Amino acid sequence: MAKASPSTPGRDLALELVRVTEVAGLAAGRWIGRGRKEDADQAAVDAMRLMLDTVTMAGTVVIGEGEKDEAPMLYNGENVGEGQPPDVDVAVDPLEGTRLTALGQPNAIAVIAVAETGTMFFPGAAVYMDKIACGPALADAIDITATPNENIRRAAEAKGVQPSEITVIVLDRDRNQGLVEDLRACGAKVNLITDGDVAPAIAAARPQETGVDLLMGIGGTPEGVIAAAVARCLGGRLQGVLWPRNADERRQLVDAGYDLDRVLDATDLVGGDSVFVAATGVTNGAMLRGVRYADGGASTDSIVMRTGSGTVRRTQAEHLPEKIKQFAPPLAL
Ligand code: FBP
Repeated sequence: MAKASPSTPGRDLALELVRVTEVAGLAAGRWIGRGRKEDADQAAVDAMRLMLDTVTMAGTVVIGEGEKDEAPMLYNGENVGEGQPPDVDVAVDPLEGTRLTALGQPNAIAVIAVAETGTMFFPGAAVYMDKIACGPALADAIDITATPNENIRRAAEAKGVQPSEITVIVLDRDRNQGLVEDLRACGAKVNLITDGDVAPAIAAARPQETGVDLLMGIGGTPEGVIAAAVARCLGGRLQGVLWPRNADERRQLVDAGYDLDRVLDATDLVGGDSVFVAATGVTNGAMLRGVRYADGGASTDSIVMRTGSGTVRRTQAEHLPEKIKQFAPPLAL
């Protein structure tokens, strides 16, 4: 088997990354159902940052918590990792689904994606992106430029079922209302979610396990980049088109050189040959179980994947009370 050179990420990075999402998940898990999404996010950011510095890599955050002046940690451009090669781009969402966590609702996760330096798409001022994502079986059937009706018809055909047996997850937003009506008109099952479209993108890539066929609609661009890394690893497909919110944002993006008509495939969003994704459940979801605390300890449920081997690992971990206190101290509220 070919050995990774020091400048390309080796396979053990996958296991290091799952430790990172585990601690972020453990820290956020303390805040489930407490109605304080900022505190939940901060706890996840702090824990993730601490563990990231133990990872053997020289990482630059490309997708992070925002710009330096608004995010004290894990801001875009921040250096993370021990500082030794491999040199990598890093996309983090220490808590994807802050509101879901605060309200104790399903599908919040801690997630990280890594790829070789210079291979991740920087979204600039593009807050939102229109997306479609699916697993390997539907990869040739979907096309973001086709109508919802056409996509459902082709997906049903590829699966050998009726359109009424295709399940699509859509973020419940006014901007997705037309899509929802079109999907219902062609008979598809639409599951509306209040937040968190990365977990459904992972779920859509593994339909046998989750019952989810497609993720469609306009959601966050950073989340689209992370979902693209997932598609790279799991062999599914993701397409995105930037969706400016107004004329100002449109002009800003055009001036910065973004092509707003371009269909971005997963490889445009995350290029490179060595892509890694790790995710840990914070609240229960279609695929990942949320963090559970018992007797002072805790258990986590994670998935970790990489393009190099195509290996997908499910990792269930039990964390000892004394050890987890440094990342997820018991709350005194
Ligand atoms: P959080 O940043 O609060 O975790 O929210 C994440 C999210 O729901 C994403 O999953 C989604 O892509 C995006 O926000 C949607 O943005 P908006 O809530 O502005 O419509």
